Amino acid sequence: MKERTYAIHTYGCQMNRLESQIVAGKLESAGWKAAAPDSASLVILSTCSVRAKAEQKILSKLRSIRGNERGASGRKLVGVMGCVAQQMKEQLVEPPYCADFAIGIGGLARFDEVLRRLLAGERGLVIAGEDGRYDLYYDLDKVKRSDSRSAYVAVSRGCSNFCTYCIVPFVRGPIRHREPKSVLAEVRQLVDQGFIEVCLLGQNVNNYRYENVEFHHLLEDVAQIEGLRRLRFITSNARDLTIETVRLMATPPLMPYISLPMQSGSDRILALMNRGYMSAEYLEKVSWIREIVGDAAISTDIMVGFPGESEVDFEATLDAVRQARFENIYSFKYSPRPFTKAAAFNDPIPDAVVRRRFQQLLDLQREIQLDRMLSFEGKVLDVLIDGVSKKDPNVVCGRAGQNIVVNLHHDRCRLGDLVKVRIEKANPHSLSGKVIGRAD
Ligand code: 5AD
Ligand code: SF4
Repeated sequence: MKERTYAIHTYGCQMNRLESQIVAGKLESAGWKAAAPDSASLVILSTCSVRAKAEQKILSKLRSIRGNERGASGRKLVGVMGCVAQQMKEQLVEPPYCADFAIGIGGLARFDEVLRRLLAGERGLVIAGEDGRYDLYYDLDKVKRSDSRSAYVAVSRGCSNFCTYCIVPFVRGPIRHREPKSVLAEVRQLVDQGFIEVCLLGQNVNNYRYENVEFHHLLEDVAQIEGLRRLRFITSNARDLTIETVRLMATPPLMPYISLPMQSGSDRILALMNRGYMSAEYLEKVSWIREIVGDAAISTDIMVGFPGESEVDFEATLDAVRQARFENIYSFKYSPRPFTKAAAFNDPIPDAVVRRRFQQLLDLQREIQLDRMLSFEGKVLDVLIDGVSKKDPNVVCGRAGQNIVVNLHHDRCRLGDLVKVRIEKANPHSLSGKVIGRAD
């Protein structure tokens, strides 16, 4: 092989982003250098299979990488990791995809071995076992964080909820919890290295339990680490969200932000989805957050077109959206997935109906969202500067504690600064304002 250069394409959730950072770290400690995807000699896809569309996008990317190679000398090493690798295993190393390796979820621990074998000339490697434990299979010092101020820290892997539409428990396996002392040591180390913000990750993060340590105990211990300025966690299931966790959210370093997928506002559909809560319980938890946490932002996921979803069910979702007044909604059209119970459910919803409902949901949320964003005008929010606007290089941007993008026409901020900003203008998806001082 010519040069040892690599590129990673990451799809899907924060856990995938973290896994890409872990693999990038492993590669760099083995002497590989990051490069543009076109010129890299090794290209890895870190993949998501939660919806069919995500999977198709990845598979066509894989085909196009191979299709664009010119002759044997231009041939790259191509690998797949993450959920699609776990799901498709051997199929990925066979035509038409012809990946050189596929490493499933449990297989990442063996990444160094895979790299050695590839360099020795082996191809078509498939490692997709699941070992059922939580092992820290990487060196904390070597993770290649993409941000020098904000870091992801996994507290669990997998999910045992078995929501009937979800492929995650099948590809990522049952939930395994990481030992609290290992989580705490990683956060301490990040703070020592100058990180300001930590986001604890789990597919169902508040389902965490290690012996008698529940999620809110872990959160409290992490929050007490001296020097940690911002603490978040993602993603929460309403069934497992406790009042203790919400109370902790009211005080820094915890941030006033939560991702709390609702999926549907219909009790009938929620039961068919096996979500473990009813609409009233979900909305009660929303009201805890609104009452206990000042100026909180709640983001949710909603699925439209679940099998059997009637007009009445969909109206119940719209109603719940009106009551919850989310700051943000990620909406998805239901997509049947392999291994899942719902894939065998009758009564699929016609595409045209799904599209119309999806649009109705977007229209409703557009109004609510602008209203919610307007409520921040005139307020002072803490903002962590994390980049420059893509549209205008003179505009610096950051994230408020509420996880809302804030644009600043202010040239004295530097990346990683934590500043106080008076919000002057609300847009549907962002805020803008003026820096009035440092936040420390
Ligand atoms: N179809 C559509 N959306 C899905 N999600 C999970 N599984 C499916 C599916 N089969 C959505 C859920 C989840 C988000 C990450 O993706 O809303 O919260
Ligand atoms: Fe999937 Fe449900 Fe687990 Fe989320 S909580 S990963 S939707 S099974």
